[in-house]
Amino acid sequence: MKALVLAGGAGTRLRPLTHTSAKQLVPVANKPVLFYGLEAIKDAGITDVGLIVGDTAAEIQTAVGDGSAFGIHTTYIRQDAPLGLAHAVLVARDFLGDDDFVMYLGDNFIVGGINDLVEEFSAHRPHAQIMLTEVSDARSFGVAELDAAGQVIGLEEKPKQPKSNLALVGVYMFTPAIHEAVRNLKPSWRGELEITEAIQWLIDNGKQVRSTTITGYWKDTGNVSDMLEVNRLVLETVEPHVLGTVEADCELIGRVVVEAGAQVSGSRIVGPAIIGAGTKVISSYIGPFTAIAQECMVDDSEIEYSIVLRGASIRGVGRIEASIIGHYAEVTPAPRVPRAYRLVLGDHSKVQISS
Ligand code: G1P
Repeated sequence: MKALVLAGGAGTRLRPLTHTSAKQLVPVANKPVLFYGLEAIKDAGITDVGLIVGDTAAEIQTAVGDGSAFGIHTTYIRQDAPLGLAHAVLVARDFLGDDDFVMYLGDNFIVGGINDLVEEFSAHRPHAQIMLTEVSDARSFGVAELDAAGQVIGLEEKPKQPKSNLALVGVYMFTPAIHEAVRNLKPSWRGELEITEAIQWLIDNGKQVRSTTITGYWKDTGNVSDMLEVNRLVLETVEPHVLGTVEADCELIGRVVVEAGAQVSGSRIVGPAIIGAGTKVISSYIGPFTAIAQECMVDDSEIEYSIVLRGASIRGVGRIEASIIGHYAEVTPAPRVPRAYRLVLGDHSKVQISS
């Protein structure tokens, strides 16, 4: 079995973070979201991995390389324009050959990995197997309709009026039957070849499509609170360890990770929290559910329930909460404008002015 990982696309929903970097490399607990997917694939016993790349190819390639760091072997497949998920299957035809494969969208995060999905698929070997999850607003997803017996009877991509609240999760299992389906597609209203329509084609042509419903799923919806939540979930599972330097005048409480080369002095860190390699934390408070990436500076500040990306600096500011601070962003106190009161006071007035 092979894996096809989609790591192209523009990531418009996570702007401004993805103006300057690939959406699949947005970190969760200091690790790019894509890496969790690659680890889940390896964990399911799949090592032959094709990565679909687009405009951000160089960045993805630098981060993942030949895959040996993950115990996998990578093949990079260029998709010249983001023409859809089914188009990605078309361009990967040579790589995929006649093997079964898992297609994994690199910006999706699945708590608990994909072992169960792969096992269920291998046991029943339907023509395709999809993963579904309940969402509060299904309009920005592919949506499945099931019959009373739980059989998938219809799929729609980003419907205005969803027939259910079951969204397609971005992990799919396919047999080579999918190749005929993708060859038969026409571009959708958004100009893309939709994998959702390819699976519908399989249903329409009498092929078997199974579904599994999962919990513990996250996808970038441009929603900062979702990102902070998934960051919180993952931080709750990290093993505390200190590889960097923590001065004696510091207090570390709970699950705290201080990565190699990080320096912490005069500070209090209440976990779960992670301080990235080469980051300096000076005279500050880092509160729960905070991930500070590599080479950052936090000085004379307080921050909690936040994500700070590589190279950012936060100096001399009060409490920051529920925030995402981008790469190399600088947060400093606003310069104080000297205030002046203009007064015309009568004789013997008594005036109190708060300082
Ligand atoms: C894609 C699929 C959609 C699926 C979603 C999951 O959407 O088209 O069916 O629900 O991934 O992440 P897109 O990322 O193109 O909006």
